Amino acid sequence: MQNVGIPSDPFKYKSLSKWHPQRVAFTIAARFQERSARDNFSNYTLPLISFEEPVTPPVFDSSDTSVTPVQMSQLLTALQQTESLGGPLVEIGSYRGITTTQLAAKTKRQVIAVDPYIGYGAGETDYAIFQKRVAAFANIEHWRMTSGQGMRKIRENGAKLSFVFVDAVHDYVNTLFDGRTYGELLAPQGSIAFHDTDDPAFPGTRRAVWEFSQMGGFEIICHVQGLCVFQKRGR
Ligand SMILES: C[S@@+](CC[C@H](N)C(=O)[O-])C[C@H]1O[C@@H](n2cnc3c(N)ncnc32)[C@H](O)[C@@H]1O
Repeated sequence: MQNVGIPSDPFKYKSLSKWHPQRVAFTIAARFQERSARDNFSNYTLPLISFEEPVTPPVFDSSDTSVTPVQMSQLLTALQQTESLGGPLVEIGSYRGITTTQLAAKTKRQVIAVDPYIGYGAGETDYAIFQKRVAAFANIEHWRMTSGQGMRKIRENGAKLSFVFVDAVHDYVNTLFDGRTYGELLAPQGSIAFHDTDDPAFPGTRRAVWEFSQMGGFEIICHVQGLCVFQKRGR
């Protein structure tokens, strides 16, 4: 694997005052990266590849998720392939709990749903819907915190993850941070999936996922429009 440093946690800067020099500098740099991602969108193309015998997802309410049935089916197939690893899986960004419950229904493993519900894509109303939807699932544990806080908690308790689904803030700095930090927490043969990887509205996510693919240490095992899955190499 290339020797690449761990990127800064974008949410760390949000705790600073709006005009704090570090926050201003980070925001300007992040916008620059986003613009570069948009200008070079076509350079970040990954090959399409899908599982030949994907599982059929249970019926779900598509008004509460932007994950399509094809993506869901590929996501759940990737999840099932990591079942024997046994360690917990993490979903970063749960919103109203559709993907959380779909994942939980297809595994015996613990599902850690990391989502702070602090206004970046979801708030209290969404949280109430999430809580209602996940209530019947004994294997779902919600951590009301940002991905960075969740990452530090997992690091502290030393758990190796079997699967990660990244579907939180769709920009370059956040996707890069989530992918790189949670990629480190995966067990060998574990997989990490990214959503919204091909949408011109989210060029930074596409760029970050492309860069992730170039980093080494991971092999792309699935890419359908809007969803990429990578398996960590090693035994
Ligand atoms: C696209 S939605 C997730 C959709 C969900 N995976 C689904 O399809 O059912 C994005 C979610 O990311 C959450 N989010 C925003 N910032 C976050 C952060 N720093 N860490 C974790 N989750 C975050 C938002 O609260 C929101 O619920």
